[in-house]
Amino acid sequence: MDFKYSEEQEILRDTIRDFAQKEIAPVAAELDAEARFPKDIVAKLAELGFMGMMIPSTYGGSELDAVCYVIAVEEISKACASTGVTVSVQNSLVCQPLLDHADEEQKKKFLVPLASGKKLGAFSLTEPDAGSDIANVQATAVLEGDHYVINGTKIFVTSGGDADTIVLFASTDRSKKSKGISTFIVEKDTPGFSPGKKENKMGMRASGTYELVFENARIPKENLLGQEGEGMKISLRALDGGRIGIAAQAVGIAQAALDASIEYSKQRKQFGKVICEFQAIQWMLADMATEIDAARLLTYRVADLKDQGIRYTKEAAMAKLYASEVAMRSAIKAVQIHGGYGYMKEYPVERNFRDAKLTEIYEGTSEIQRLVIAASLLR
Ligand code: CAA
Repeated sequence: MDFKYSEEQEILRDTIRDFAQKEIAPVAAELDAEARFPKDIVAKLAELGFMGMMIPSTYGGSELDAVCYVIAVEEISKACASTGVTVSVQNSLVCQPLLDHADEEQKKKFLVPLASGKKLGAFSLTEPDAGSDIANVQATAVLEGDHYVINGTKIFVTSGGDADTIVLFASTDRSKKSKGISTFIVEKDTPGFSPGKKENKMGMRASGTYELVFENARIPKENLLGQEGEGMKISLRALDGGRIGIAAQAVGIAQAALDASIEYSKQRKQFGKVICEFQAIQWMLADMATEIDAARLLTYRVADLKDQGIRYTKEAAMAKLYASEVAMRSAIKAVQIHGGYGYMKEYPVERNFRDAKLTEIYEGTSEIQRLVIAASLLR
């Protein structure tokens, strides 16, 4: 067991930390206030190779390990959690299932531009009646000649309105329920497809969350990813990886909240001394730091399992569950340490607080993570 970063991981951490602190952190509050997707920043991250980190270079990726990926998502999320989820979805939920399930033609056509960051992707699974219960997907895909005709409405799609390519889940046979779900690659200019409303969210506001509408959208049958009926498994396998990214994102938010609290507590004076001299504050800082380290270690552990090719469903759920709850607890403490100022938009902990909440919800709520963990314990 080796708790040291490799030289490659250390160089990568310094590079992305420097970029995130210089180019992302200074504009994060403005992006949040305007609910603006940072296209220019995402383009720079693509140039630096952060949009297809775990994809082989033959398919346009950076060929890095999953530990590098979580280091990067943590550093980006520490500066701006919205940019963190954009990077995480592209890597884990879009590029990875294409690497795992696409045929050679599909990889050349779709994976190469996504992994190199020339194109942006989205993962579209959720529907109004299929949130936690994804087996209840109602969108349909009917094969007519050389095309699948897609009908239905998807919701809560991260990057959905900004994406060039969408990994879509629809039912090819509703009578088979979960075994009738299939996966499709949809290009944004497909006739019959259009982004619907953009959600007005509490946090993570610089990441657009969209409804997607399919009205007799015809997509070539070559755009079926994997086999008909494999969609449930493709989605759950992708979400295992996605949960590693969200765990890393949560660690980044929690660390940002701790860093801000340390800095503030060294400056803020009450009762004639800086508040970090009070044990009440010290205990909060100590608890935050300990929990964040534990969350980071769970996240590194699951990334390492992925790198070793060992199934990591339970460990991804544990990392995501714990890290997201740590992010929420840390953000609550950070606001408390800042007192009245922590409730004001001028201080970044107010944004950390709002952003942290979503990590307990998307890519499987905390309750779903507990179900996944328990199922694996009781198997
Ligand atoms: N990888 C691959 N296959 C898996 C798997 C995994 N991790 N987990 C389960 N499977 C397989 C099972 O082996 C089973 O296959 P068989 O039928 O051949 O045996 C099949 O998938 C169904 O598995 P379960 O019986 O365990 O399924 P279930 O319906 O009982 O429970 C669930 C599944 C855990 C509740 C699951 O539905 C789940 O994780 N739900 C949460 C969904 C979620 O995370 N949604 C977020 C959407 S994306 C998002 O947030 C938006 C965004 O843009 C970021």
